[in-house]
Amino acid sequence: MLRLKSINAYYDQAHVLKNVSLHVSPKEIVALLGANGAGKSTLLNLVSGLVKKMDGEVLFEKEKIARLGPHKIVRRGISQVPEGRQIFNPLTVLDNLKLGSYHRFSRGEKKTIARDLDNIFSLFPILHERRHMPAGNLSGGEAQMLSIGRALMSSPKLLLMDEPSMGLAPKIVNEIMKVINKLRDWGATILLVEQNAAKALKIADRAYVMETGKVVLQEDASTLLGNPEIVRAYLGKSKKEIWE
Ligand SMILES: Nc1ncnc2c1ncn2[C@@H]1O[C@H](COP(=O)(O)OP(=O)(O)O)[C@@H](O)[C@H]1O
Ligand SMILES: [Mg+2]
Repeated sequence: MLRLKSINAYYDQAHVLKNVSLHVSPKEIVALLGANGAGKSTLLNLVSGLVKKMDGEVLFEKEKIARLGPHKIVRRGISQVPEGRQIFNPLTVLDNLKLGSYHRFSRGEKKTIARDLDNIFSLFPILHERRHMPAGNLSGGEAQMLSIGRALMSSPKLLLMDEPSMGLAPKIVNEIMKVINKLRDWGATILLVEQNAAKALKIADRAYVMETGKVVLQEDASTLLGNPEIVRAYLGKSKKEIWE
């Protein structure tokens, strides 16, 4: 469904992604692991059309989408849950969700938008309870749910998730992981960036490990889960937060 071929990306003079190739097949959950600064967010942003200084090919459903621009890429069916959630605090929960579907209104998709909103509220009942509240009043976990919900409102074929568990208490992290599992049951295709390798590998089918802009390892998630020393070696540390 998504295929990156020999991608290089740059911020000014800095060469941030170096000859990266990867793919995600329909209904797969693929984990993208790597230490801070490895280039994971840059890779997701590039797929979303936010990184212009690049070369290499990005194919989505066999069509070239590199440099199409973020709006067109969302219309093609790729939606991102950005690092740090990036919800609009002064707007209500409901308005944040509606924003995720803004490009569908003009396509006369009113009915399907309403159906998707119902599904999101069934996935996150707390968002339904709080739908008329300013999003700024939500807890960190609720804000993450809203960010996921907003991305789902675009009815994506491919969901890019950038560290959805960042800064959340362990109990809430587990809830978010359960949600991702449920999305799998719904048939979602997900490229998941995570700091917590063990948690990501438990729900992923396959994984890529990045180190300073390069993909240094690709493996079945179950294989890596059984060999934590490999992941630790590549992530360059044996900290609790990457493996618990
Ligand atoms: N907007 C930017 N301008 C310049 N350098 C950036 C920018 N965003 C990220 N970088 C640099 O690019 C590298 C990769 O960053 P990033 O993709 O955010 O890594 P990760 O998400 O894996 O932590 C890092 O060295 C980071 O400092
Ligand atoms: Mg990042």
